[in-house]
Formats: sequence, structure tokens, C-alpha cells
Amino acid sequence: MDSIAKFLQENGRHLLLFGGKGGVGKTSLASATALWAAEHKTKTLLISSDPAHSLSDIFDQDLTGGQIVSVDGISKLSVKEIETAQVAKDYQPYLDKYPEYKFILGDSLELVPGMIDGFSVIDLNRTFNLHSDFDLIIIDTAPTGHTLRFLSFPDFMKGTAMRLIQLRQKVGVFAEKLAGFFRRKKKEDKEGFDDPAEFMEKIKDWAIRTKNLLSNEKTTRFNVVTIPETLSINETARLINEINNYEIPIGQLLVNKIFPISTDCEFCKAKKIIQDHELKIIQERFKQYNPITIPFFKEEIHGIPSLRKLYKIFLPEI
Ligand SMILES: Nc1ncnc2c1ncn2[C@@H]1O[C@H](COP(=O)(O)OP(=O)(O)OP(=O)(O)O)[C@@H](O)[C@H]1O
Ligand SMILES: [Mg+2]
Repeated sequence: MDSIAKFLQENGRHLLLFGGKGGVGKTSLASATALWAAEHKTKTLLISSDPAHSLSDIFDQDLTGGQIVSVDGISKLSVKEIETAQVAKDYQPYLDKYPEYKFILGDSLELVPGMIDGFSVIDLNRTFNLHSDFDLIIIDTAPTGHTLRFLSFPDFMKGTAMRLIQLRQKVGVFAEKLAGFFRRKKKEDKEGFDDPAEFMEKIKDWAIRTKNLLSNEKTTRFNVVTIPETLSINETARLINEINNYEIPIGQLLVNKIFPISTDCEFCKAKKIIQDHELKIIQERFKQYNPITIPFFKEEIHGIPSLRKLYKIFLPEI
């Protein structure tokens, strides 16, 4: 697989995702890549899909609120932290139009488990198309479990929409009567869809488009972040397997937090021996994903200068 830099040099707009086990460095590496791209003249949008947002901390700026916010001093970099309340606000009006579906799904999107995540992921495609002035969109994802659920939603939404469409076709006339009975608004709605089936068709369409974006070889790469420890390696294998199942192209494997080669510290020496062993396993097992190592810095990754120091390790000068 190509390195991140080589992939970004290819023509066209790009979507990069960073995923992996909790605490391995997804946010740090996604943010460093976004800063590198922005400082090399690519208009970049960094999105966090992790409900426990940390982009505000890493950029030392209040980026909360669910809207696109520009990063101070970096003219080509903007950030959006997906807020479930904002997603609910954006998509609830669609549900409000159709009491038929409220009958099945409940009154509020927020009451249906996973529904907001579903709309958040299908909103990615809308963001990608609506904000075509961004050449690059980078997603800093939540730890593996949440992200796999998140990425399974296009298929789930498509399946659910198709089942509801079929159900409606099966119950036919009865559904029409029921719909008429519950319907509050009629065709005077200027926007939206008059027929409830159209709403489900729309959801199916959104889900298919999102799936197509995520699996597009030309635009998309899922970069996997790991550390040289057995548990993280096992999780990496499971993550790669699932990402392949979702047909999302995998980019580069970033092996983070590598201890320095020369050190006087006994603890670090012992750690380093274990890391070397695990690193060998990673290099053999995941060779095809072009693993690259990132050193463990003394200081935390926090603020623009430390992100620059980080990106210099794995991304080239242009
Ligand atoms: N190469 C590195 N050197 C030093 N510290 C690092 C490095 N990479 C990450 N860290 C630190 O490790 C911690 C976790 O990093 P980060 O938040 O990027 O991980 P994450 O995978 O996004 O975590 P989460 O799963 O909680 O979202 C942070 O304190 C960060 O500063
Ligand atoms: Mg994170």
C-alpha cells in the first residue's frame, strides 16, 4: 500500500480516516496529517467522529459546537467535531414529516439506539459533496469498537430502509389508510418528500452513496494506528479484517510510541526489548500495509509546534 504522502499527491479530492485501539495516537496523527496538508496548501477539513472529542485540546482552541471552525493562524485548516445534538437537529425535521415512521422509530431520532450515529455517518457523504472547496477531509475516529459500529451503518441503514419500503409495499392499501389517518401535513410542504416511501428511498440512497465514498479506491484510505504491544496488535488484526469486510481501502499502518534506541533508563531498555519483538511481528504480519514507526516523544502532543514536530517524522518536506 502507498504511503499517506504518496496517496495525497495523486490528483483529486481525498478522504483519510485514522483508526485504532484507544489511546494509540489516532487524534495526534490525524491532526498532524491535517496540519501538514494545510501548511502545504491543501484546503483541509479535520472531522472528529469520536463522541469524546479532543481536537479542542490538541489545537488549544475551542472547536466544539458541531460546526466547521477555522483553526487560528492556519488559514487552510478547519475542524468539525460531530455533535449528536447537531445531527439530531439537522435530521429530525425529516422524521417529523412522517408520523408513519415515528410509529415505528419513535418520536425522536435520539431515542432510537444508534440512529444518530447512522445519520452522522451518512452525513459524511453530504459534507464531502457540500464542502467541495475542501480538497482533503480527514476523520479522527473513536476507538475501534465504536468506529466499526459507525462504519457498519451505511449497510444497516440501507437494509432497514429497504425492509421498511418492502413492508410498506406489502401492507399497501392499509398503510395508505394508516398514513392518511396520522398525517398532519399535506403536499403544501415545499421541501422534502410527499410520499413516505420517498423518505426511505432517500435514506437508502444516502446510505449507498456513503458506502460508495468510503469504498472508493481513488478518494479514500483508512490509516490504521497501533503501538507495539500484543493487545494492540491483536486489535489491529481484527480492525483490518473488518475494514476489508466493509470494502474500505486500507492505507498505511502507523506504529506509534516507539522507545528511543539509546537510553540509560532501565525501564525504557526493558520496554524497548519488548517493543523490538512486537515490532518484528508487526513488520512480518502487516508488511503489505507499509508499516512506519513513530518515536515516543518526551512531551505530550499538544499545540501546533508539537504537531509540526510529529508530522516531520512521517510526512515529507515539500
Ligand atoms: N508519538 C507520541 N509521543 C508522545 N506522546 C504521544 C505520541 N502519540 C500520542 N501521544 C500521547 O498519547 C496520548 C493519546 O494520544 P491520542 O489522543 O492521539 O490517542 P487516541 O488514539 O486518539 O486516543 P483515544 O482512543 O482516547 O481517542 C496523548 O496524551 C498524546 O499526547
Ligand atoms: Mg482520539
